[in-house]
Amino acid sequence: TGVPMPQNEPVKEYRAGSPERQALRQALQEAKRVEKELPMVINGKPIETGKRIRVVPPHEHKHTLGYLHEGDASHVTQAIDAALAARTAWAETSWEHRASIFLKAADLIAGPYRAKLNAATMLGQSKNVYQAEIDSACELIDFLRFNVHYMTEIYSEQPYSPPGVWNRLEYRALEGFVFALTPFNFTAIAGNLPTSAALMGNVVVWKPAYTQAYAAQVIMEILQESGLPDGVINLIYVDGPEAGDVIFKHPDFAGIHFTGSTGVFQTIWKEIGNNIGTYKTYPRIVGETGGKDYILVHPTANVTEAVVAMVRGAFEYQGQKCSAASRAYIPASLWPAIQEGVKTELARQKMGSVEDFTCLFNAVIDERSFKKLAAYIDQAKADGATIVAGGNYSSEEGYFVEPTIIQVNDPKYRTMCDELFGPVLSVYVYDDEAIDDVIELIDTTSPYALTGAILAKDRYAIETLTKKLTNTAGNFYINDKPTGAVVGQQPFGGARASGTNDKAGSALNLLRWVSVRTIKETL
Ligand code: NAD
Ligand code: ALA
Repeated sequence: TGVPMPQNEPVKEYRAGSPERQALRQALQEAKRVEKELPMVINGKPIETGKRIRVVPPHEHKHTLGYLHEGDASHVTQAIDAALAARTAWAETSWEHRASIFLKAADLIAGPYRAKLNAATMLGQSKNVYQAEIDSACELIDFLRFNVHYMTEIYSEQPYSPPGVWNRLEYRALEGFVFALTPFNFTAIAGNLPTSAALMGNVVVWKPAYTQAYAAQVIMEILQESGLPDGVINLIYVDGPEAGDVIFKHPDFAGIHFTGSTGVFQTIWKEIGNNIGTYKTYPRIVGETGGKDYILVHPTANVTEAVVAMVRGAFEYQGQKCSAASRAYIPASLWPAIQEGVKTELARQKMGSVEDFTCLFNAVIDERSFKKLAAYIDQAKADGATIVAGGNYSSEEGYFVEPTIIQVNDPKYRTMCDELFGPVLSVYVYDDEAIDDVIELIDTTSPYALTGAILAKDRYAIETLTKKLTNTAGNFYINDKPTGAVVGQQPFGGARASGTNDKAGSALNLLRWVSVRTIKETL
């Protein structure tokens, strides 16, 4: 009865003159032609509150894409009520029917909605065409399809029944509603968090980051067109703490599916803890959080591979992937060649609007992020760190920060420790003989353990580093960049302060959204 393992959605290349490029150009034009109203969607109905918040392209912040309609606590209550009203019928809907809705959504994104969703991601989140294609199209399609496969694997897992007894596991939805709280940086994550919980029969209240409202709206449109019943996923725009205040005090709160910063997740966890006596059931707490991801180059590494890993791993999507490298440890013997290589490569690349398809780099998400990054760069200059590349910024047209490499003398300097979430890579150059010290530094410099990459050609070094760095990353790469996990191939998630490590895009994650009843029947 299972659904076989799907294939990953092929990535389109958007070559000049290709039909996909033409379709995307049209979608970009259409998205910019009129300012859109972006309502909440509660019980399948658009809710316009009149409290309009401007949504802008980060690379062109004087342009208005549209206005999201912000709600308040009363809308959170409406969304919870709608979810709970839909709950029984949805939980009793056959898994085949639930699967068909999300598979249809995947097909719609693969086909007629691909250009629209990519355009929304490009403009709303300042993501270039290639990054949008892998994130908002392919990764979300993969999440939707692979989750269906993993769901059927979970459901087919049944215990042994001796003669005269029928033992069985009944995979029920959670008793209550799930809160999906999603970050700005990946459209695929925004789509996956509410839909994975819903696929397993749960009803959901979903609050995306405001800076991602445009893509969120398109996802909701796709889900509705796919036949998702009203009330199963309710999209709200309410200030995070205000929404949390209603949700975390509600007796039917049954789980949170969160991706965002560590600080917010810890605040939420405490709040859930404070209210623990309130709930009918212990809420599931699933969170993918921050990182301070690293690249370790071993003296036996290939220089070209190290340069590619650093440029792509640290700077694609302006370093705003949770998986992006933000600290690198380079041996003194290779540093001159690597430094030359990254400077040459960065000098070749352009930064600008997503509508110019030749720009590899675009803008950071908003003014707050821009100011934070500018302050860190200025402080590093004042503290005497060497700016190896970049170091300039401007917010006149958009929130542009040059890909910046800071060489630090102190391996525990603040840019080696703090999550900056932008195009800033700190480099510590180590003595070739001091590799054990570097292992210790990687392990102890930050509380995070999301992604890490090592580059080495010596087999013994690869084995030793892989073993000694065991707790430093939930996703560990050997001779590659630390970004770009593919659904079905590298289940994604971090440990330590980087999350509960419930691996997005795997059965491990989906298992958090079921509550199993064990039934023994004596025959
Ligand atoms: P964020 O934590 O600021 O926001 C995440 C969501 O929480 C948003 O919808 C926000 O409005 C909401 N929120 C904020 N404060 C809240 C509160 N007190 N109560 C309830 N909700 C609240 O994160 P962001 O800036 O959107 O995303 C960047 C962060 O996400 C980075 O730290 C990054 O590492 C992390 N991230 C992690 C992963 C992963 O898989 N580990 C993936 C993507 C992003
Ligand atoms: N799939 C994303 C990456 O690994 C999160 O970069």
